[in-house]
Amino acid sequence: MMSLLESPRLKYEKLSLIHVTDRYLSWINDPVIRIGLESVSVSGPPSTMDDLKNYVGNLDQKAHVFAIIWKESHIGNIKIHMIEPKHGRAEIGYLIGDRSVSGMGFGTEAVGRITRYCFENLDLRKVTAGCYADNMGSIRILEKNGYLQEGHLKFHIRRDGEYIDVLRFGKLKP
Ligand SMILES: CC(C)(COP(=O)(O)OP(=O)(O)OC[C@H]1O[C@@H](n2cnc3c(N)ncnc32)[C@H](O)[C@@H]1OP(=O)(O)O)[C@@H](O)C(=O)NCCC(=O)NCCS
Repeated sequence: MMSLLESPRLKYEKLSLIHVTDRYLSWINDPVIRIGLESVSVSGPPSTMDDLKNYVGNLDQKAHVFAIIWKESHIGNIKIHMIEPKHGRAEIGYLIGDRSVSGMGFGTEAVGRITRYCFENLDLRKVTAGCYADNMGSIRILEKNGYLQEGHLKFHIRRDGEYIDVLRFGKLKP
């Protein structure tokens, strides 16, 4: 598939049904991955192949959702969504689902490339992101890419019966 973007080690394709595989399904049912995601509940029933096809087949057409490819292999996704042209702002969300490659800096590289795409190609002036306060990997990724913490929302969401804090980050166009 044609890549839309590249960074030193990664390629970015438009996420579509061709990326929906048992491997991708296994990521979102992996408890270690699931705990960081906003869209699924950790102890809820596992997602099915139909759930995943439904999700990927019905992505918001206004969002830019990329499959992250390393050495021909799909390792995660990154999206730009909640695009607000009036305010020149959008939100990003990301997932490095293949745990055999976690800690290799791919999350950091992808967030860096997509943030630059927001500023250089989408004419945005601010990119925002949020993560759970216990998601150390995600916090480091944002800090390493020059995002500043702008908010700390106390007991903001319920994750499997427990109320947890959400951190809000933002980066302005340099
Ligand atoms: C969080 C996530 C994106 C990290 O991806 P990754 O490619 O492994 O991250 P990187 O290799 O770029 O690591 C970035 C930094 O975080 C650290 N890190 C990564 N995972 C970590 C973890 N579980 N605990 C503590 N630190 C961690 C790395 O050591 C690195 O820090 P350093 O440069 O100071 O050593 C990935 O684990 C993931 O997708 N998790 C599930 C979904 C999720 O939480 N998405 C983000 C929602 S906000």
